[in-house]
Amino acid sequence: MKQSPAAGAASRSPNAEPVVARTVAELRALVAGWRRDALSVGLVPTMGALHAGHLSLVETARSACDRTIVSIFVNPKQFAPGEDLDTYPRTWDSDLAALRTAGVHAVFAPLPTEMYPTEHATTVSVSGLTDCLDGIARPGFFDGVATVVSKLFLQAGADRAFFGEKDFQQFLVVRRMAADLDIPIRVIGCPTVREADGLALSSRNTYLSAAERALAPHLHEELQKAAARIAAGVAASADTCADAVAALESIGFGPVDYIEMRDAETLAPVTGSGPLTRPARLFAAAHLGTTRLIDNIAV
Ligand code: PAJ
Repeated sequence: MKQSPAAGAASRSPNAEPVVARTVAELRALVAGWRRDALSVGLVPTMGALHAGHLSLVETARSACDRTIVSIFVNPKQFAPGEDLDTYPRTWDSDLAALRTAGVHAVFAPLPTEMYPTEHATTVSVSGLTDCLDGIARPGFFDGVATVVSKLFLQAGADRAFFGEKDFQQFLVVRRMAADLDIPIRVIGCPTVREADGLALSSRNTYLSAAERALAPHLHEELQKAAARIAAGVAASADTCADAVAALESIGFGPVDYIEMRDAETLAPVTGSGPLTRPARLFAAAHLGTTRLIDNIAV
């Protein structure tokens, strides 16, 4: 089959050196060149400390777009005082090596002063979808995410952006933000990548002690048990979720911030025991030692 120049360029051999853009101007110049060649552009926003979950987004982006940009920026605006901004893992060399192997075309890695010069004064805030779950457990978190992601969307001018369903509420919030601000980008959700024992991959899993790591898969296990009970109509979902919270806290998790079933589009609560009429998901957030784990699954 004859390959178009665009497709040929997109499937360039892995291990070629990605272009590293440190400033918005560099990123814009790079993307403008691709645009002149009528190449489509995919964006994968990350905070680095890359693992196979991030790389699955990269792979999806590479197969959907001619050019793939990965941004690496530990966004101070989404960390509350006392959270792990200072200790968040920063693994630039191995991230760059992984992205080279994955065949990404560019890495956008701005300094905090490039993203937020001292005079920066704008916050993007999405209401509704942020009134529950992590919107309550982590006040200000989604404002920080919506602000940085709207900037990344406008800076990169990509056609598509790829987000993990592991952070399902974040995916919905970002999709709403892009639609509300008329940013011409398709926000695409990608499945959660898990360890063999069910634990969702996360850059924060490195914080877990060996004993905590052994307990951690119970979060996903309890969600699966609860989903099966709800699907079988055994009990009201609110009771099933309360049982799951109690089960986790009895084996050493604590506190559990929430286990709740919610509509997969609107995040409206789904608490009854009747048959589901719309797609729903179970959402969980729980502390294990000093680490906070989140997970969610479709019911
Ligand atoms: P970060 O936690 O680095 O995650 C970057 C992207 O990878 C997000 O879309 C997240 O959902 C996805 N991801 C993480 N773990 C995953 C897994 N196990 N399976 C599939 N996808 C996974 O999320 C953020 O960064 C930030 O909030 C960001 C969007 C970059 C804004 O700062």
